[in-house]
Amino acid sequence: MQSKARDVYVPPVLQDLRAGTAELHIALEKRLPFFSDQLDADAFHRLMQAYYGFYQPLETALLDSACIPADFDLAPRLKTPTLQRDLHNMGESTQGLERLPICRKLPVIDSGAACLGVLYVLEGATLGGQILRREIATRLSLDADNGAAFLDVYGAATGRRWRDFIEYLGACPMDVDERAAVVAAAQTTFSCFERWLESREVLA
Ligand code: HEM
Repeated sequence: MQSKARDVYVPPVLQDLRAGTAELHIALEKRLPFFSDQLDADAFHRLMQAYYGFYQPLETALLDSACIPADFDLAPRLKTPTLQRDLHNMGESTQGLERLPICRKLPVIDSGAACLGVLYVLEGATLGGQILRREIATRLSLDADNGAAFLDVYGAATGRRWRDFIEYLGACPMDVDERAAVVAAAQTTFSCFERWLESREVLA
């Protein structure tokens, strides 16, 4: 009997994205401190401040780009409000939040394809969040109510929302150049994020 997984259709753009970002994912995953013995509540707070410093300007750039495909509903996928809530729950004041360092070296968002590449990374990160959420709940007793909602930002809908995104991505008409632009934007998103986190000294 053939396995079901083998029958799942993977659109060419997703094949390219996976091939083009797998190494970047592995490299970043290895350096993130979620499983480090040294990760205490303070270090987690600093890590989430650094996440905020990347997601906030990147989501603003997406919104300001005027390149988001007209039929894509970005608002319910924005994660900055959840990060803000987490930081507040960990004791950050509104003024403190406004003063946090913000990343300025972001991927260029100059086309619908670039938007989709950035979104692939931000949406895909919610999948790993499911593993990280359990680790942080066990290790630091943090959950959606006291500082770790970001790691479970879509809750029980995580799988469905990822499948919806992939379905949307796969249905976008794209030529070879546009596909390459999607992958390039995803790669730049990974590398900008890693460099930013490194500069904030939160990586192993
Ligand atoms: C220690 C941290 C991380 C862990 C343990 C982790 C783990 C995972 C796992 C297990 C999956 C696959 C889920 C599945 O196939 O059902 C996944 C997918 C993904 N992750 Fe991560 N991840 C981490 C961090 C990140 C970060 C920081 C980003 C980007 C900002 C990211 C982006 C992605 C993307 C784009 C996918 C989708 C890959 C695909 O199926 O096409 N991950 N991650």
